[in-house]
Amino acid sequence: MVERNEDNLEEVPTETLARLYIKQGFLDKGISVYRKLCLENPDNVELKKTLEDLEKGLGGETDKSLSGEGKKDEKILKVLENWLGAIQDKKERLKRRESVKKHVLVIHGPNLNMLGKREKGIYGTATLDEINSELAAEGEKLGLTVETFQSNHEGAIVEKIHEAVRNCQGVIINPAAYTHTSVAIRDALLILDVPIIEVHLSNIYRREPFRHKSMTSDVATAQIAGLGKLGYLLALQALSKLIK
Ligand code: DQA
Repeated sequence: MVERNEDNLEEVPTETLARLYIKQGFLDKGISVYRKLCLENPDNVELKKTLEDLEKGLGGETDKSLSGEGKKDEKILKVLENWLGAIQDKKERLKRRESVKKHVLVIHGPNLNMLGKREKGIYGTATLDEINSELAAEGEKLGLTVETFQSNHEGAIVEKIHEAVRNCQGVIINPAAYTHTSVAIRDALLILDVPIIEVHLSNIYRREPFRHKSMTSDVATAQIAGLGKLGYLLALQALSKLIK
Protein backbone atom coordinates (compact mmCIF):
# COMPACT_ATOMS: atom_id res chain seq x y z
CA MET A 1 0.00 0.00 0.00
CA VAL A 2 1.42 3.43 -0.97
CA GLU A 3 1.58 5.90 1.89
CA ARG A 4 -1.01 8.62 1.96
CA ASN A 5 0.22 12.08 1.07
CA GLU A 6 -2.36 14.95 1.29
CA ASP A 7 -0.61 16.94 -1.48
CA ASN A 8 -0.57 14.16 -4.01
CA LEU A 9 -3.71 12.04 -4.26
CA GLU A 10 -2.07 9.90 -6.94
CA GLU A 11 -0.02 8.35 -4.24
CA VAL A 12 -3.13 6.75 -2.76
CA PRO A 13 -3.99 4.29 -5.51
CA THR A 14 -7.62 3.30 -5.07
CA GLU A 15 -10.15 2.39 -7.70
CA THR A 16 -12.30 5.31 -6.60
CA LEU A 17 -9.48 7.71 -7.34
CA ALA A 18 -8.81 6.05 -10.69
CA ARG A 19 -12.49 6.32 -11.67
CA LEU A 20 -12.59 9.92 -10.54
CA TYR A 21 -9.64 10.81 -12.78
CA ILE A 22 -11.22 9.00 -15.73
CA LYS A 23 -14.62 10.60 -15.16
CA GLN A 24 -13.02 14.02 -15.21
CA GLY A 25 -11.26 13.22 -18.47
CA PHE A 26 -7.78 12.59 -17.02
CA LEU A 27 -7.39 9.23 -18.69
CA ASP A 28 -3.60 9.01 -18.29
CA LYS A 29 -3.76 9.67 -14.57
CA GLY A 30 -6.53 7.09 -14.21
CA ILE A 31 -4.51 4.49 -16.10
CA SER A 32 -1.47 5.25 -14.00
CA VAL A 33 -3.48 4.62 -10.80
CA TYR A 34 -4.81 1.34 -12.25
CA ARG A 35 -1.24 0.31 -13.11
CA LYS A 36 -0.19 0.89 -9.52
CA LEU A 37 -3.22 -1.05 -8.32
CA CYS A 38 -2.31 -3.94 -10.63
CA LEU A 39 1.25 -3.97 -9.33
CA GLU A 40 -0.05 -4.06 -5.79
CA ASN A 41 -2.61 -6.75 -6.56
CA PRO A 42 -1.05 -8.97 -9.25
CA ASP A 43 -3.70 -11.66 -8.74
CA ASN A 44 -6.68 -9.37 -9.26
CA VAL A 45 -7.94 -10.39 -12.70
CA GLU A 46 -10.64 -7.76 -12.74
CA LEU A 47 -8.20 -4.92 -12.23
CA LYS A 48 -5.96 -6.34 -14.94
CA LYS A 49 -8.86 -6.52 -17.38
CA THR A 50 -9.95 -2.95 -16.59
CA LEU A 51 -6.41 -1.70 -17.15
CA GLU A 52 -6.16 -3.56 -20.45
CA ASP A 53 -9.48 -2.12 -21.61
CA LEU A 54 -8.44 1.35 -20.60
CA GLU A 55 -5.15 1.05 -22.43
CA LYS A 56 -7.02 -0.09 -25.53
CA GLY A 57 -9.34 2.88 -25.09
CA LEU A 58 -12.33 0.65 -24.37
CA GLY A 59 -12.89 1.47 -20.71
CA GLY A 60 -16.54 2.21 -19.94
CA GLU A 61 -15.73 5.19 -17.81
CA THR A 62 -13.15 6.50 -20.28
CA ASP A 63 -16.03 7.00 -22.66
CA LYS A 64 -15.61 10.13 -24.79
CA SER A 65 -18.72 11.56 -23.21
CA LEU A 66 -16.70 12.20 -20.10
CA SER A 67 -13.82 14.03 -21.75
CA GLY A 68 -13.93 17.75 -22.53
CA GLU A 69 -15.01 17.09 -26.12
CA GLY A 70 -17.49 14.50 -24.93
CA LYS A 71 -19.04 16.96 -22.55
CA LYS A 72 -19.63 19.38 -25.43
CA ASP A 73 -21.24 16.56 -27.44
CA GLU A 74 -23.37 15.70 -24.45
CA LYS A 75 -24.63 19.29 -24.25
CA ILE A 76 -25.46 19.32 -27.99
CA LEU A 77 -27.25 16.00 -27.57
CA LYS A 78 -29.24 17.43 -24.65
CA VAL A 79 -30.29 20.44 -26.74
CA LEU A 80 -31.30 18.18 -29.63
CA GLU A 81 -33.20 15.90 -27.27
CA ASN A 82 -35.07 18.92 -25.89
CA TRP A 83 -35.91 20.09 -29.40
CA LEU A 84 -37.13 16.63 -30.38
CA GLY A 85 -39.21 16.48 -27.23
CA ALA A 86 -40.76 19.88 -28.01
CA ILE A 87 -41.53 18.82 -31.61
CA GLN A 88 -43.10 15.59 -30.36
CA ASP A 89 -45.23 17.55 -27.85
CA LYS A 90 -46.39 19.94 -30.56
CA LYS A 91 -47.28 17.04 -32.86
CA GLU A 92 -49.31 15.36 -30.13
CA ARG A 93 -51.13 18.59 -29.27
CA LEU A 94 -52.00 19.10 -32.97
CA LYS A 95 -53.18 15.49 -33.21
CA ARG A 96 -55.39 15.94 -30.14
CA ARG A 97 -56.81 19.18 -31.54
CA GLU A 98 -57.54 17.50 -34.88
CA SER A 99 -59.23 14.58 -33.20
CA VAL A 100 -61.75 16.93 -31.52
CA LYS A 101 -64.54 17.20 -34.07
CA LYS A 102 -65.56 20.64 -35.27
CA HIS A 103 -69.10 21.62 -34.47
CA VAL A 104 -71.43 23.16 -37.04
CA LEU A 105 -74.80 24.69 -36.22
CA VAL A 106 -77.55 24.73 -38.86
CA ILE A 107 -80.33 27.21 -38.18
CA HIS A 108 -83.66 27.00 -39.99
CA GLY A 109 -85.95 30.02 -39.76
CA PRO A 110 -89.74 30.36 -39.67
CA ASN A 111 -92.05 28.02 -41.62
CA LEU A 112 -89.21 25.71 -42.61
CA ASN A 113 -90.66 23.13 -40.21
CA MET A 114 -93.46 22.90 -42.78
CA LEU A 115 -91.21 21.80 -45.64
CA GLY A 116 -92.71 18.89 -47.55
CA LYS A 117 -96.16 20.46 -47.16
CA ARG A 118 -95.30 24.05 -47.96
CA GLU A 119 -95.24 25.39 -51.55
CA LYS A 120 -93.65 22.19 -52.86
CA GLY A 121 -93.16 23.72 -56.33
CA ILE A 122 -90.79 26.27 -54.78
CA TYR A 123 -89.25 24.46 -51.82
CA GLY A 124 -89.36 20.82 -52.93
CA THR A 125 -90.85 17.77 -51.29
CA ALA A 126 -88.18 16.94 -48.74
CA THR A 127 -89.20 17.46 -45.14
CA LEU A 128 -87.01 19.29 -42.65
CA ASP A 129 -86.31 16.00 -40.86
CA GLU A 130 -85.05 14.49 -44.12
CA ILE A 131 -82.80 17.47 -44.76
CA ASN A 132 -81.46 17.32 -41.21
CA SER A 133 -80.74 13.58 -41.51
CA GLU A 134 -78.83 14.15 -44.74
CA LEU A 135 -76.86 16.91 -43.04
CA ALA A 136 -76.00 14.63 -40.13
CA ALA A 137 -74.82 11.88 -42.50
CA GLU A 138 -72.74 14.33 -44.52
CA GLY A 139 -71.28 15.74 -41.30
CA GLU A 140 -70.30 12.23 -40.27
CA LYS A 141 -68.44 11.79 -43.57
CA LEU A 142 -66.71 15.13 -43.16
CA GLY A 143 -65.76 14.50 -39.54
CA LEU A 144 -68.00 17.27 -38.23
CA THR A 145 -70.71 17.24 -35.60
CA VAL A 146 -73.85 18.87 -36.94
CA GLU A 147 -76.49 20.42 -34.72
CA THR A 148 -79.76 21.48 -36.30
CA PHE A 149 -82.19 24.03 -34.90
CA GLN A 150 -85.48 25.40 -36.19
CA SER A 151 -87.57 28.19 -34.78
CA ASN A 152 -90.44 30.36 -35.87
CA HIS A 153 -89.34 33.04 -33.40
CA GLU A 154 -86.81 35.74 -34.11
CA GLY A 155 -85.63 36.01 -30.48
CA ALA A 156 -85.07 32.26 -30.22
CA ILE A 157 -82.89 32.36 -33.34
CA VAL A 158 -80.94 35.32 -31.94
CA GLU A 159 -80.34 33.41 -28.70
CA LYS A 160 -79.22 30.29 -30.57
CA ILE A 161 -76.69 32.40 -32.44
CA HIS A 162 -75.42 33.74 -29.10
CA GLU A 163 -74.93 30.15 -27.96
CA ALA A 164 -72.94 29.41 -31.11
CA VAL A 165 -70.36 32.00 -30.07
CA ARG A 166 -69.22 29.51 -27.40
CA ASN A 167 -69.36 26.18 -29.17
CA CYS A 168 -69.42 26.41 -32.97
CA GLN A 169 -66.72 26.49 -35.59
CA GLY A 170 -69.18 27.23 -38.39
CA VAL A 171 -72.82 28.21 -38.95
CA ILE A 172 -75.28 27.54 -41.75
CA ILE A 173 -78.39 29.66 -41.62
CA ASN A 174 -81.56 29.88 -43.63
CA PRO A 175 -83.27 32.80 -41.91
CA ALA A 176 -86.31 32.22 -44.20
CA ALA A 177 -88.67 35.24 -44.06
CA TYR A 178 -86.41 36.93 -41.48
CA THR A 179 -83.79 37.16 -44.22
CA HIS A 180 -85.61 40.16 -45.58
CA THR A 181 -86.46 41.92 -42.34
CA SER A 182 -84.34 41.02 -39.34
CA VAL A 183 -81.80 43.52 -38.13
CA ALA A 184 -81.70 41.51 -34.88
CA ILE A 185 -80.52 38.32 -36.62
CA ARG A 186 -78.06 40.30 -38.70
CA ASP A 187 -76.62 41.89 -35.53
CA ALA A 188 -76.38 38.53 -33.79
CA LEU A 189 -74.50 37.03 -36.75
CA LEU A 190 -72.09 39.95 -36.57
CA ILE A 191 -71.03 38.71 -33.12
CA LEU A 192 -69.79 35.43 -34.59
CA ASP A 193 -66.17 34.99 -35.50
CA VAL A 194 -66.63 31.81 -37.57
CA PRO A 195 -67.57 31.16 -41.21
CA ILE A 196 -71.27 31.61 -41.87
CA ILE A 197 -73.10 30.33 -44.94
CA GLU A 198 -76.54 31.65 -45.76
CA VAL A 199 -78.71 29.12 -47.57
CA HIS A 200 -82.01 29.47 -49.41
CA LEU A 201 -83.84 26.60 -51.01
CA SER A 202 -85.28 28.87 -53.66
CA ASN A 203 -83.46 31.44 -55.76
CA ILE A 204 -84.65 34.51 -53.92
CA TYR A 205 -83.41 36.78 -56.75
CA ARG A 206 -85.84 35.24 -59.22
CA ARG A 207 -88.80 35.81 -56.94
CA GLU A 208 -90.80 38.79 -55.68
CA PRO A 209 -88.69 41.97 -55.37
CA PHE A 210 -89.10 42.08 -51.54
CA ARG A 211 -87.14 38.79 -51.41
CA HIS A 212 -84.21 40.23 -53.35
CA LYS A 213 -82.94 42.05 -50.30
CA SER A 214 -81.13 39.98 -47.70
CA MET A 215 -80.29 41.62 -44.38
CA THR A 216 -77.71 38.92 -43.73
CA SER A 217 -75.91 38.20 -47.00
CA ASP A 218 -73.18 40.78 -46.47
CA VAL A 219 -72.58 39.46 -42.97
CA ALA A 220 -72.28 35.88 -44.19
CA THR A 221 -69.12 34.39 -45.68
CA ALA A 222 -71.16 33.16 -48.66
CA GLN A 223 -74.69 32.60 -49.85
CA ILE A 224 -76.18 29.63 -51.71
CA ALA A 225 -79.65 30.11 -53.19
CA GLY A 226 -81.80 28.11 -55.60
CA LEU A 227 -80.32 24.61 -55.25
CA GLY A 228 -82.98 23.19 -52.95
CA LYS A 229 -81.76 20.85 -50.20
CA LEU A 230 -78.47 20.35 -52.08
CA GLY A 231 -77.61 23.90 -51.03
CA TYR A 232 -77.38 22.81 -47.38
CA LEU A 233 -75.08 19.89 -48.20
CA LEU A 234 -72.82 22.06 -50.33
CA ALA A 235 -72.72 24.62 -47.55
CA LEU A 236 -71.59 21.94 -45.10
CA GLN A 237 -68.87 20.73 -47.47
CA ALA A 238 -67.66 24.29 -47.95
CA LEU A 239 -67.66 24.91 -44.19
CA SER A 240 -65.65 21.78 -43.60
CA LYS A 241 -62.95 23.16 -45.90
CA LEU A 242 -63.17 26.67 -44.45
CA ILE A 243 -62.91 25.40 -40.90
CA LYS A 244 -59.94 23.11 -41.51
C1 DQA B 1 -86.39 30.94 -48.18
C2 DQA B 1 -86.75 32.13 -49.01
C3 DQA B 1 -87.45 33.16 -48.19
O1 DQA B 1 -87.78 34.27 -48.98
C4 DQA B 1 -88.73 32.58 -47.64
O2 DQA B 1 -89.38 33.51 -46.80
C5 DQA B 1 -88.53 31.31 -46.95
C6 DQA B 1 -87.57 30.34 -47.47
C7 DQA B 1 -85.76 29.80 -49.03
O3 DQA B 1 -85.20 28.91 -48.42
O4 DQA B 1 -85.83 29.81 -50.22
O5 DQA B 1 -89.24 30.97 -46.01
O6 DQA B 1 -85.47 31.33 -47.24
